[in-house]
Amino acid sequence: MSLLLKLKSMGLRMFKFISNIENWKSSPKLWIGAWIFLRLLFQFLREYGLTLFKKDLSKEHIFLTGAGSGLGRLMAQRFGEMGAKLSISDINLQGVEETKQICIKMGIPAANIHVMHLDVSKRASITESASSAKAAFGTVTMLVNNAGIVSGKSTLELTDPMIERTMHVNTISHLHTIREFLPDMIAAKKGHIVSIASMAGLAGIPGLPDYCASKWGAIAIDESVRLELKKAGHWGYVKTTCICPYFINTGMFDGAKSAFPMYILSPEEVVNRIVNAIR
Ligand SMILES: NC(=O)c1ccc[n+]([C@@H]2O[C@H](COP(=O)([O-])OP(=O)(O)OC[C@H]3O[C@@H](n4cnc5c(N)ncnc54)[C@H](O)[C@@H]3O)[C@@H](O)[C@H]2O)c1
Repeated sequence: MSLLLKLKSMGLRMFKFISNIENWKSSPKLWIGAWIFLRLLFQFLREYGLTLFKKDLSKEHIFLTGAGSGLGRLMAQRFGEMGAKLSISDINLQGVEETKQICIKMGIPAANIHVMHLDVSKRASITESASSAKAAFGTVTMLVNNAGIVSGKSTLELTDPMIERTMHVNTISHLHTIREFLPDMIAAKKGHIVSIASMAGLAGIPGLPDYCASKWGAIAIDESVRLELKKAGHWGYVKTTCICPYFINTGMFDGAKSAFPMYILSPEEVVNRIVNAIR
């Protein structure tokens, strides 16, 4: 029997089994299978933005780090188009000013965009930017921790300052920014914390030990905060989203080669997935 015929007869037998109401009464496996199927279907539809109920971003005040280039710049454009108030920041002030000009050229009102110089590796700089953002548009309802760096050195090539800077920018800053905005989100019963981590936070990669460790840390912070919110009963109104992309052609990993079946992602497709995941 050819493979196609075998698959067809298997499908028919499965259909007969599922369509028999008596099997649903006697087999808990069917209910578990149905639940897993619906959960996966829902996840798939959500990832591609095919859901009926979506978060209205026009009511958000978004604090975005690393908005001077790459994903951060594109996210600012997308969030701005949707009517959100934007507090955009970067260590590279010129870059984030350019982002503002690009947004204005797209038709996003200048009054909706507040630009700040922020070095996320400095605690005082985070506190200063947080006050500046709150003074501009009030309570921050969405925090997007996007700023990131990579040293691109092997364990023995790394220097002490490189290791410390990577951990401060990619990981420790997330704790500080979350601690800065979460109390207001809880008080307002409205909030969303978005962490741009990486697939490098799910597996070790030669030549990227500090980067991988820092992204594992970012994922751990997201998960811990999510569980804390659940435990404290705030989960209904303060959400978290953790994004773990593969290599993207923003320039951060210039020269990186993809391994089949993976491929280098475009920033546009990643930002589409981020926006869908948030909404
Ligand atoms: N590019 C990729 O392949 C890839 C893959 C997975 C995850 N990521 C993550 O996505 C995020 C965005 O990266 P990108 O690809 O757009 O790269 P990018 O270099 O274009 O953007 C990073 C931004 O962070 C800013 N930044 C760096 N140090 C900072 C600091 N101390 N304080 C404030 N801002 C600082 C930079 O100026 C820059 O604008 C990063 O967290 C990165 O780790 C990137």
